[in-house]
Amino acid sequence: MINPTLAELATYPFVRLEEKRRELLEAGVDVIDFGKGDPNEPTDPMIRQALVEALPERSPYPLAAGLPELREAVARWCGTRFGVPLDADTEVVPTYGSKEAIFSLAEVVDTGGKVVAYGEPAYPVYERGALFAGARVRTLPLLRENDFLPDLDALGDDIALVWVNYPHNPTGAPAPLAFYERLTERARELDFWIASDEAYTELWFDEPPVSALQVADRSRVIVFQTLSKRSSMTGYRSGFVAAPPEVIAALKAYRPTVGTAPQEFVQRASVVAWNDERHVEETRARYAAKRDVIIPAIEACGWEIVASRATMYLWVIAPDGTVDRLLERGVLVSPGDFFGPSGAGYIRFALVPTLDECRRAAEILRSL
Ligand SMILES: Cc1ncc(COP(=O)(O)O)c(C=O)c1O
Repeated sequence: MINPTLAELATYPFVRLEEKRRELLEAGVDVIDFGKGDPNEPTDPMIRQALVEALPERSPYPLAAGLPELREAVARWCGTRFGVPLDADTEVVPTYGSKEAIFSLAEVVDTGGKVVAYGEPAYPVYERGALFAGARVRTLPLLRENDFLPDLDALGDDIALVWVNYPHNPTGAPAPLAFYERLTERARELDFWIASDEAYTELWFDEPPVSALQVADRSRVIVFQTLSKRSSMTGYRSGFVAAPPEVIAALKAYRPTVGTAPQEFVQRASVVAWNDERHVEETRARYAAKRDVIIPAIEACGWEIVASRATMYLWVIAPDGTVDRLLERGVLVSPGDFFGPSGAGYIRFALVPTLDECRRAAEILRSL
């Protein structure tokens, strides 16, 4: 028998996109893929070099606590980027990218028959992790009229954990600090943990987004960060959790059982990545150039771009059938309802193709 939770899950949406892409390629279509959010940007040579130099003759099992120099680099980065003084030993643990840590959080904190809540449309992993942990789940609709923020007054006292993700995938909406302050107030009143997935805080275009770590009282705040998008390092699998000592101690106890500590050579390359902002500025400039090419072409189609102030995504209101119309011309985008029912009527462009491909896609859009 297979675990019924697994058997009942629909195919992971991006697996469906990948299948579509393969079919098109096999049919000889030159696909420009705005589907999955996997950066095509090169990893900075300095980071790659650090990885090569760190490759030892023998690589032992990495420890769950991670290398002290990585935890210190992370704490320093949170200090300079968000003005938050983290203790490298008690408030940080490195993770294997952020997805695995997001997935397993509901097994680490006590959900005790209560509910794991998450905004919707959403990255699918909050829900899946909660279901595999046997928790109940509840969606919080993220609507345009509320700036894609959940209604915090609607939260009840049966909640164990609330997931937030700003800047938000798929809408690209940021959250102001006042939202996080109000969320912590509600967490104190109703006694829940806040899990903040901050994978996209470094991909911004007007002003740098804030972190949930910046609230006055971060005793209930668990933050997930990653080098995947910031430093175009998806394949390296390197991120961290920043959280109160109680949660970090629990993660250090849980994680050796799962075996998800990043390889030490990856950790050493990660130190170089967290210590450098120049390559991140260059990455932002590359995404900005792609936006400048694609946004006018989308607008020329008469479609409306909503939110989309940060992240690598454009969240677009487009007529029914647009995904298929674009596919016929070799342009692959994600249907908004991949991310939940509130995504119906939208499509998502992940600005991962090269600038040249974006120019070609812009021409295709203008010819629709
Ligand atoms: C919202 C969000 N969170 C987390 C992740 C996980 O990224 P990683 O595991 O590479 O850190 C992704 C990846 O696409 C994402 O979109």
